[in-house]
Amino acid sequence: MNNYEALDKEIVFSADKRALQVFDIYDFLTKSYWAKGITIDAVKKQIKNSFCVGVYHKKIQIGFARVVTDYIGFGYLCDVFIIEKYRGKGVSKLLMEYILNHPELRFIKSWMLSTKDAHGLYRKYGFKSLEEPQRIMKFVKFKDWQSIKGSVINIT
Ligand SMILES: CC(C)(COP(=O)(O)OP(=O)(O)OC[C@H]1O[C@@H](n2cnc3c(N)ncnc32)[C@H](O)[C@@H]1OP(=O)(O)O)[C@@H](O)C(=O)NCCC(=O)NCCS
Repeated sequence: MNNYEALDKEIVFSADKRALQVFDIYDFLTKSYWAKGITIDAVKKQIKNSFCVGVYHKKIQIGFARVVTDYIGFGYLCDVFIIEKYRGKGVSKLLMEYILNHPELRFIKSWMLSTKDAHGLYRKYGFKSLEEPQRIMKFVKFKDWQSIKGSVINIT
């Protein structure tokens, strides 16, 4: 048994939101390239309204992923991360397998995601670059998270 296999057996994946370390998730995301400056209230609201997976090693949260979904037609995978110390050991691949095979998610027809540099990871699970990117549109209504904060009284 190699070290990766040993680690495999000690890693726990859970879709129970009560186990999530919300402040740690916020702390990672607000410094990430894709959610830079996100507020704790916005993260709480995203968690409340998404399917979330926590990754744990000896009860410490070491990773996270979130799926925005209707549970049948479409799933948008986002906020995927593994903390630095645990990277390069296959944990994100186990996380992808957990997500795509989860009983509540396994019959979703199509998935999407956005990534700057992790295409190779997602390609292993069937994701491909858009064949017809001209069909997909995007509307960025607020330029950053601070602008949203200033626009609503209570985001949660
Ligand atoms: C991307 C990330 C989740 C990968 O997690 P990980 O547990 O270290 O990855 P794994 O050890 O399971 O390996 C991932 C596999 O995808 C491949 N891969 C492709 N692009 C990659 C990338 N940008 N980063 C990491 N792995 C990548 C690896 O080569 C590896 O394949 P292999 O086993 O055939 O060598 C992790 O590096 C991370 O959290 N990065 C910072 C946050 C981030 O960028 N998240 C993705 C946003 S879309």
